Amino acid sequence: MEALVANRGVLLRALNVASGKTIGQGCQVKRIPVPTISDQEILIKVHTVALNPIDFKSVDLIASRGSVIGCDYAGEVVDVGKHALGMWKVGDRVAGFVHGGNYSNRGSFSEYLKVDGDLAWRVPDELRDEEASTYGVPAATAMLALNVRLGVPWVDATSVGGEMQLQSPENRGTILIYAGSTSVGLFAIQLAKRAGYTVVTTASPHSFDLVKKYGADSAFDYRSTTAVRDIVKEHPSITQALDCISEGRSTEFCAQVIKKSGGKIVTLLDQGKSKVRGVQYDFLVVFTAFGHKFAFLPPIGPSFPASPSDREALARFYANLPQFVKDVKPLPLRVLGSGFDKIILGLNELRQGKVSGQNLAVNFE
Ligand SMILES: NC(=O)c1ccc[n+]([C@@H]2O[C@H](COP(=O)([O-])OP(=O)(O)OC[C@H]3O[C@@H](n4cnc5c(N)ncnc54)[C@H](OP(=O)(O)O)[C@@H]3O)[C@@H](O)[C@H]2O)c1
Repeated sequence: MEALVANRGVLLRALNVASGKTIGQGCQVKRIPVPTISDQEILIKVHTVALNPIDFKSVDLIASRGSVIGCDYAGEVVDVGKHALGMWKVGDRVAGFVHGGNYSNRGSFSEYLKVDGDLAWRVPDELRDEEASTYGVPAATAMLALNVRLGVPWVDATSVGGEMQLQSPENRGTILIYAGSTSVGLFAIQLAKRAGYTVVTTASPHSFDLVKKYGADSAFDYRSTTAVRDIVKEHPSITQALDCISEGRSTEFCAQVIKKSGGKIVTLLDQGKSKVRGVQYDFLVVFTAFGHKFAFLPPIGPSFPASPSDREALARFYANLPQFVKDVKPLPLRVLGSGFDKIILGLNELRQGKVSGQNLAVNFE
């Protein structure tokens, strides 16, 4: 099969880290074997992939030479391991994400991929493949941040008299989602909203309509010098925040909003550290949801232990997702077309920071 494979050695990637620039394309289309599945895995023919900032960061900084790039996908089950969870059948529609840029035989920018049967979700008829592909890294990150790290209650469907029904949310107070127009932010707004929170978010004014359409109760311009003060004035007792940017002064912004009552901020990058008394910081990386340990740029970069509880959370989220896609909508989409060339074009757009308020998707013919 064909796949987009990383081709930089560790020295070149370390140079990229040190210089903040990228040298060369960093990946190429190669023919590699179709993955062989274990008894727990399913094999998927990929129809559509969605692109994330982690994909170009992987190419530029993290992925070792020979690893397959790409995380998010939607496609069709073509083989099922004999003990695979999820009751999959050949031909079922499926979506999810994998830990792209970490393995020579697993990544979504390829014609086929493999994944544990309980770590993918069944796509309902009402969603197109492009839409389904957006519930990968951003949705799982929002879920881990809210339901696992910030203790936002799950809202699962339960069987009432043989019919699946959603629990009604209680009023849970107010949460800050910094950078609500990011892909992670749009899912976080929706998950917090359906758990019963009032959602305060930040975005550029051109994204205010978008974040409100996804459920935010109020939006503030993060570039305004009075934004922190304005939020605290209207919402003086926020104790939970998700920083969907975690660069520059974003974490400090969140800390200033919650410092009066104290509380917790989940961050998505290990940068922009802020130290405010009474504020707890928790940096998460979504790939802990696969239940394996891993490292970025070993031996110099950080390593992450296996987290069985994060894996359990992803399995729970994906098992329930088909029942609530009506209240947790897919991201706004721009489909770039078909083929690996379009993926490379899309990665360049993301690298240049040209993508705002939408997810890029590419089809495989
Ligand atoms: N740790 C993890 O596991 C994990 C998982 C997913 C993502 N991430 C990281 O989280 C970040 C967001 O990812 P994403 O896919 O959600 O992003 P995205 O959808 O590509 O984000 C684009 C949006 O970011 C906003 N933005 C850009 N710079 C900003 C700034 N300095 N302050 C506030 N908002 C800013 C812009 O909003 P406006 O147009 O409204 O200004 C733009 O719409 C990336 O750095 C990504 O690598 C980490």
